[in-house]
Amino acid sequence: MVYEATASAPVNIAVIKYWGKRDTKLILPTNSSLSVTLDQDHLRSTTTSRADESFPEDRLWLNGKEEVIKEGGRLHTCIKELRAWRLEEESKQDSLPKIGKFKLHIASYNNFPTAAGLASSASGLAALVASLAALYELPQSRSELSRIARQGSGSACRSLFGGFVAWREGEAKDGSDSLAEEVAPREHWPDLQALICVVSDAKKGTSSTAGMQATVETSPLLQERLRIVPQRMVDISTAIEARDFDEFGRITMADSNQFHAVCLDTAPPIFYLNDTSRAIIALVQELNRASAANGGGLVAAYTFDAGPNAVLYAPAANMPVVIAAVNKYFPQAGEFADPFQMGTGAPLPAGFNE
Ligand code: DP6
Repeated sequence: MVYEATASAPVNIAVIKYWGKRDTKLILPTNSSLSVTLDQDHLRSTTTSRADESFPEDRLWLNGKEEVIKEGGRLHTCIKELRAWRLEEESKQDSLPKIGKFKLHIASYNNFPTAAGLASSASGLAALVASLAALYELPQSRSELSRIARQGSGSACRSLFGGFVAWREGEAKDGSDSLAEEVAPREHWPDLQALICVVSDAKKGTSSTAGMQATVETSPLLQERLRIVPQRMVDISTAIEARDFDEFGRITMADSNQFHAVCLDTAPPIFYLNDTSRAIIALVQELNRASAANGGGLVAAYTFDAGPNAVLYAPAANMPVVIAAVNKYFPQAGEFADPFQMGTGAPLPAGFNE
């Protein structure tokens, strides 16, 4: 018997940012967050997991390169939790093959180049958890799985759902209620589109994990943010429900700005935006100002994660204008290389089947 399962998970981009942990081991956030899952096929992580009696140890490959599964590390925690769950099911159901005690080989790859500068940890950890849950045939709900994915990388819990997704911070000390849930499916608002503007593909200077911890420890402004976010969660959910782009865009930009403000308020300060990021903000402001002067609504809204790359949200009808403006003011230098590797299979690394 071959015990193997493959699952894939998409990238998500937060509009209400997660930034700060109240528990660094369990990865419990200081505030709830909300994201949009990008549903294109070319922005996904795919993971194949296999359990086999002959494997001497757990092994993991990321984009073909073997990584160490550090004892007590995040990957280790996710694998341990899912394996314990399988063993528990095996002890309850005699008919289940006893594969929980077998070692695992796990191969994960992103179908978007790391050079695209997109965070791959969210989709990567979500795909890993989904593939192991499928391999182990766990009787789970996605929210239950999100509890485990969260311990791999906070934002990963949101990538287990499509559409508009909230990660509720929860109250329990053990994290049992710190889960992701769908706010609305993608089909609810198909008109909303995202444009990813890759400003730099350099690895970020301060990782999210280190940066948010420094903010929790040193930023007085974060306390004010934590008072503001709960109402924003309510307001943006209402805007999504009503497909109200003006309100959605206003809150999205305000939350991105505030997140970067608490980064600046951190000691020492963290700068994720660069001059090009700020020029993109100015361009979006100008498009929106010109539209307002003609009595129109917001054309687009920007948001930036822990790096200089912009994600612009806009209704489909506005996208041609947005793309034309970005191309006009930020012409591509040199050849425009196709950033996506479409149609490539899942290359399983050497040693995967041994
Ligand atoms: C700015 O989920 O990467 O993208 O939990 O430490 O792995 P860890 O952090 P991570 O942080 C994401 C931060 C963010 C905002 C967001 O996605 O909500």
